[in-house]
Amino acid sequence: MPIRRPEPIAVRRNRRPKPKPETDALGFGRFFTDHMFMMDYEDSRGWHDPRIVPYGPIELDPAAKVLHYGQMTFEGMKAYRSPSGGIRLFRPDMNLKRLSRSNVRLGIPPIDEELVSEAIRRLVLLDRDWLPAAPGTSLYIRPFILAVEPLLGVSPSREYRLIMIMTPVGSYYEKGGDPVSIRIETEYVRAVRGGLGGAKTAGNYAASLKAQEEAASRGFAQVLWLDGVHRKYIEEVGSMNVFFRIGEKVVTPALSGSILDGVTRDSVLRLLNHWGIGTEERRIAIDEVAAACRNGTMAEAFGTGTAAVVSPIGELDWDGERLLVGNPGEAGPLTRRLYDELTGIQTGRAPDPFGWTV
Ligand code: COI
Repeated sequence: MPIRRPEPIAVRRNRRPKPKPETDALGFGRFFTDHMFMMDYEDSRGWHDPRIVPYGPIELDPAAKVLHYGQMTFEGMKAYRSPSGGIRLFRPDMNLKRLSRSNVRLGIPPIDEELVSEAIRRLVLLDRDWLPAAPGTSLYIRPFILAVEPLLGVSPSREYRLIMIMTPVGSYYEKGGDPVSIRIETEYVRAVRGGLGGAKTAGNYAASLKAQEEAASRGFAQVLWLDGVHRKYIEEVGSMNVFFRIGEKVVTPALSGSILDGVTRDSVLRLLNHWGIGTEERRIAIDEVAAACRNGTMAEAFGTGTAAVVSPIGELDWDGERLLVGNPGEAGPLTRRLYDELTGIQTGRAPDPFGWTV
C-alpha cells in the first residue's frame, strides 16, 4: 500500500443539538454527544474519508463480518475539565498504541495513530460543551473498529469502519468509591494465554457476562478471574486490572497475554514506584491471596481501569468462604491516595510530573 498523506477531516455539523443531561443522571455511557467521527477502510484504498458527522444510527449490511464473527477492537479513554476550564486528555497515546496492538491480534489493518489522535482532538473540541465539570465526571471517548465486509466466510474482513463516539460520564459504579464484595470465579474463565485476553475486543466482555450475572444475583459486585489453565492464578477483577497490598508490597498479575495491558494499571505502577513503594508484577496464586486475608496481611485490594479509575475491594468470596481485606467498610489509605493522585493529575488539580495529560 503506498503511503498517502492523511486526508483532512471533513466536518458536517449537527443542526439539532440535544439538551445536555443533568450531572446526577449521567451514570456511565447513557448519553451521547452531538457528533461522532468515522472513517472507512478497503484493501484497495486504505483508510479514507475521515469525517465528523452528527451522532446517529449507522447502517450495516446484515452480512457484515463483525455481526457474525466478532472481528472488532475498541478503546476507552477520558477527557477531563480542568479547574481553569481547560480540557485535558489522559495518556491518549497509550490507548492508541493499544488499539494498534489489538488490531494486530484481531487481523485488522493498522490505523494512522496521528490521524486518529487529531480526530479525538477535533471531536472533543467540537463537543466541548458536553464535558461535565462536577467532581468525578468526565467525557468518555470510545473509538471502535468494525469488520464490515458483507461476506460469511470465516476470514479477515477486507473492509472496516472506525467510529468514535463520546459520552459524558459520572461514577462507573452505582456505589461510587465504597469497597465492594467480589466473587472468586471458579467455573467460567475469561481468557487464556494465546487467546484474545490481551486485546480490547468485544468477545472478552461477552465471555464475562454470564459469570458477572451469576455473581450479581448472589449480591456480589464483580468476579475475580482466575487463569483458564490451572484455575489458580489471578488475572483480572471484572473488567479491571487488580492489585493487592500484602504487607508493605503491592503486587499485580504480570502481563501474560491473557490480561489487558491497562493504562491505569501502568499509571498506578509508575506512581507507586515514584513514591518509593515496592511493586511486583508476577504470578499470584489464589492460595496466597486467601492466606494473606486469613492471616491479616492483606491490607488493601483494588481494581484499576479507565472507567472507575481505582475501585476498592472489601472482601472476596471463595466458594462460600468470606475473605476479608483490610478494615471492613473503608477503602485503604493507599487506594485512596492513588485515586486522589490519579484523578488530581487527570483533572489538572494536581501537578503532572509524568507529562501524562495533553
Ligand atoms: C474500564 O475502563 O475499566 C473498562 O474496561 C470498562 C469499560 C469497557 C466500560
